[in-house]
Amino acid sequence: MGIRFNEKNKTFKLDAGGASYVFRIFHTGYLAHLYFGAYIPDDNLVDFERRSVYASFSAQPDDIEPYTFSPDTCPMEIGCNGGADMRIASVQIRGKDGNAVTEPRYVSHKIYSGKPAIPGLPALYANTPEECETLEVTMLDPRTGAECMLVYTVFEKYPAITRSMIVKNTSDTPFEIERAMSFCMDMNGCDYDMITLYGRHMQERDFMRRPIGHGTQGIGSRRGSSSHAQNPFMALISKGGDEDHGEAYGFNLVYSANFKAEVEVDYNNTSRVIMGINYDDFGWTLSPGESFYTPEAVLVYSAEGLGGMSRAFHKLYNNNLVRGEWKHKRRPLLVNNWEGTGMDFTDEKLYAIAKWAKETGIEMFVMDDGWFGRRNDDTSSLGDWYVNEEKLKGGVGSLVARVKALGLKFGIWYEPEMISPDSDLFRAHPDWAIGVPGRKRSVGRQQYVLDMTRPDVRDYLFDIMGEVLARNDIDYLKWDFNRNISEAGSALLPPERQKEFYHRYILGVYELMDRITKAYPHLLVEGCSGGGGRFDPGILYFSPQIWCSDNTDALSRVDIQFGTSLCYPASAQGAHVSASPRASYETKRNVAMWGSFGYELDPEKISEDARAEIKAQIADYHRHYDLIHYGDLYRLVCPWDDPYNCAWMFTDEGKTQALVTYLIKFKKERRGLFLRLKGLDPAKYYRLEETGEVFSGALLMNAGISLFNMPNEDGYSKTFYFTQA
Ligand code: DGJ
Repeated sequence: MGIRFNEKNKTFKLDAGGASYVFRIFHTGYLAHLYFGAYIPDDNLVDFERRSVYASFSAQPDDIEPYTFSPDTCPMEIGCNGGADMRIASVQIRGKDGNAVTEPRYVSHKIYSGKPAIPGLPALYANTPEECETLEVTMLDPRTGAECMLVYTVFEKYPAITRSMIVKNTSDTPFEIERAMSFCMDMNGCDYDMITLYGRHMQERDFMRRPIGHGTQGIGSRRGSSSHAQNPFMALISKGGDEDHGEAYGFNLVYSANFKAEVEVDYNNTSRVIMGINYDDFGWTLSPGESFYTPEAVLVYSAEGLGGMSRAFHKLYNNNLVRGEWKHKRRPLLVNNWEGTGMDFTDEKLYAIAKWAKETGIEMFVMDDGWFGRRNDDTSSLGDWYVNEEKLKGGVGSLVARVKALGLKFGIWYEPEMISPDSDLFRAHPDWAIGVPGRKRSVGRQQYVLDMTRPDVRDYLFDIMGEVLARNDIDYLKWDFNRNISEAGSALLPPERQKEFYHRYILGVYELMDRITKAYPHLLVEGCSGGGGRFDPGILYFSPQIWCSDNTDALSRVDIQFGTSLCYPASAQGAHVSASPRASYETKRNVAMWGSFGYELDPEKISEDARAEIKAQIADYHRHYDLIHYGDLYRLVCPWDDPYNCAWMFTDEGKTQALVTYLIKFKKERRGLFLRLKGLDPAKYYRLEETGEVFSGALLMNAGISLFNMPNEDGYSKTFYFTQA
């Protein structure tokens, strides 16, 4: 690992977990990107000096020798705007003269161990200063006085680099940031496919693969959240690459609001990748001396296809993103009442579920939506976070005490960012809801959104949530967010700053999350947004697990989990067994085990057999916990390759055990008679627990395990557990 600067050829070389990233200070201070890929030795870097081309029609600034170089044909670390670099820009500053030509050039750099935090924003962190090294390159756009500092951190163990940018106003007048992307990188060639995760409510993070071509292509969100529709993740994989082969580059933004990720293929077949805050309808006025911090992007390189990329993301996020007491502590196995009762419950009903949970071996009871205000359906009460005594006699405290007396942990649901038009809060503070003068507010799920840019709104939420969280022994908080943002405007922001709204909104959310998690450090927070509408690394920084989807039908949920696994670890995805009818309890368990496991049902509404089966499932889950949460995931048969069958497995670091799951979604086509495993040690021998048979790792990986005797039925699934013999 390390970052080195070669004074002679002005080259920066960043080495991280088997990958190298190289760029240099080029003519008159441009930063030229040279390489990102598998490790290369330092002594060849001189060859890179020749990597500059000139093409006719390429403009040249007048401080460059004619016909030698143009910023338009040079791979860049920062995409300039309005000058000779005519590709998509990564930074665009409008100066006081009304012009937005932005061309930052190198001024200085600094290398140090460790990793700085980003004020107000979630970011990866170093557990020890030795684990990471950081490079800050300061660039200056002399015309506007915009200083753009590019921040790079490399990680010792993972082929991963984080990048972000800090824009500082060094002039004596304000300017407008119109675009400040987290990174820009020009990749050589365009023989890549782009992989993104698209979806909708109940069908999040579906896999999309398409070739990239000339022009600009990409994804983004304008919904005020990272969204169900597109995840802030993009991968580029070399043509023909797959789960195990080819070069895969993964890009993930540590951000939970409007984002953009784009690739422009230019006439030299260079592929420019940019990612960051969505520049549509964005602007930020920066006063002299002030700094603007972009969110951080995570760049992962894998020479082993998508599988290697995913495993690097998983390890990195478990180690350097997830924080707090629950990072390493075993998360309690929970039951949530939402799918069982909806909002139709009393304290006795909830207590009955908790009692059953205790007898079954479940460790925590979570009370979902409907416990506050006059909330019996979704028409009212968001914002009125005081207990509905008609439903919970004796208040939250009494129920918490009774559940705790059973020996269970207690969890509670909030949707802090929302306000119902029919609520005491809205009647008292109509200006606290987001809105635009002269336009009616749209409702989403019959609710408005609170203006999280306002400190008074955040203080109200912190205090009123504290009434419950501080007074009761609560272990878990589900933080929901059930609509997208429309008519985005704040009553407090002046007209020229309304363009800052979306970013200020999420900064406000992060600030409140930070206060809550600091005030109640023992709380296990589970992020949620109508299932997985805000499933991103920004939320993961505050909540070690996120409810993956409201779709709990195992046969379609499994596709969502496959997509999610492209960059998020199993430990991050909340996954529950529900009473959904399409699959057996065994299959529902096998699918939900691929995550932070739980149940979501009313035991009175399921059969006695089902209840007995659930009891038996639980012990099994406990013994596989570490393997699933911290092991290596190998996707064996993916839904994007085979719509009928799928299979996945986990191994531990020492390759001493493996848990394999095979699922037939639709029996239409059998997937051969043998399933080849991955990630084992070919020289080791493994015992299949079920039969006691012993197989070599080589046999399991090359010939595979027999599926011959497996019933070919819709929804049938089976796990195979191997331990080293
Ligand atoms: C959406 C969530 O995804 C559900 O799990 C549940 O908490 C409901 N909201 C409650 O309104």
